[in-house]
Amino acid sequence: MEAVVEAGGAGTARVMSRVEERMVELVSGHGELLARHGGETITGGGKRLRPLLVCIAAGVPVRESDALVRAAVAVELVHAATLVHDDVIDGAALRRGRPTVVATGGRLLALATGDLLFSRAFAELAAGREIEPIRILSAAASALAEGELMQRGDAWNASVGQDRYLERCRLKTGVLFRAACELGALAGGVPIEPLGRFGEGIGVAFQLLDDILDVTGPSERTGKPRGTDLLDGTVTLPLIEGRKRDAELARLNLRTVETAEQAAAVCDRIEATGALEYARDHALAVVAAAKTGLPDGLSEAQRSALELVADGVVERYS
Ligand code: IPE
Ligand code: IPE
Ligand code: MG
Ligand code: MG
Repeated sequence: MEAVVEAGGAGTARVMSRVEERMVELVSGHGELLARHGGETITGGGKRLRPLLVCIAAGVPVRESDALVRAAVAVELVHAATLVHDDVIDGAALRRGRPTVVATGGRLLALATGDLLFSRAFAELAAGREIEPIRILSAAASALAEGELMQRGDAWNASVGQDRYLERCRLKTGVLFRAACELGALAGGVPIEPLGRFGEGIGVAFQLLDDILDVTGPSERTGKPRGTDLLDGTVTLPLIEGRKRDAELARLNLRTVETAEQAAAVCDRIEATGALEYARDHALAVVAAAKTGLPDGLSEAQRSALELVADGVVERYS
């Protein structure tokens, strides 16, 4: 990601540091508890990939503007909100190597913290008095809700196939990456749809990698325990493909995977089938298609920065 900031020029580094300051400001002033948990969520790490995409989609070298900072802040706040809520849904204990809000403060506080982060995102966009960014981000937030529900509805369901899984990745993750690119393109006066399509593609690939990393771990690198998806019933591509290749995996009743040790053993088995390479190849193909679909007329600098992010998504280890 440092390379991406560098590729975006001095403007990117300035926008990104304004984004950090602004997010901290926005979560304060709503009581001590929300300020603490909202603040810790914001300052407790994160790759800041979506605000970076906002910057780069706006054009390289990045020209700093208030609209650009607002958009980058809003998209990262929605992301942070969904993580806090996601950890409630998934019953996750660790995020970014630290205890989650639900683990430290309980469900009520985690729900309220997520709600605060969501609403501050839209307040920030509203301050810009433009309708289009609000429309873009609310479409993404709605898709995310739909994707999370779809995932819960499909939990422990061994008949979930690849197409349904990929649609869930699109809703859960692809659409927010799309929004980041569209918001950036809007702020930079660049055509919106082709960059949005690029964003959606790399977002799907990003989720694919996330699901691969859940199987490979190790948790010191990913910041969350290995096999979490198996333990909460989430059926991902490595498992879908692994079951096609290994009869014992195909017979496995997913509800019987209950301990970290059992989950680790199933992860090893999935790994041994070659399903992770299959999932990674799929992610690589999605990224290649996203790069090929980048529109003509981008500056060389912008194109190479976008390609750098796209490649980073499939080369990541955390
Ligand atoms: C995690 O996203 C959730 C997914 C969409 C897989 P990130 O990996 O971008 O989260 P942080 O912000 O860097 O922790
Ligand atoms: C991604 O879902 C989070 C959202 C898109 C809301 P996951 O449940 O797969 O992400 P992690 O593994 O908790 O980061
Ligand atoms: Mg989760
Ligand atoms: Mg989840």
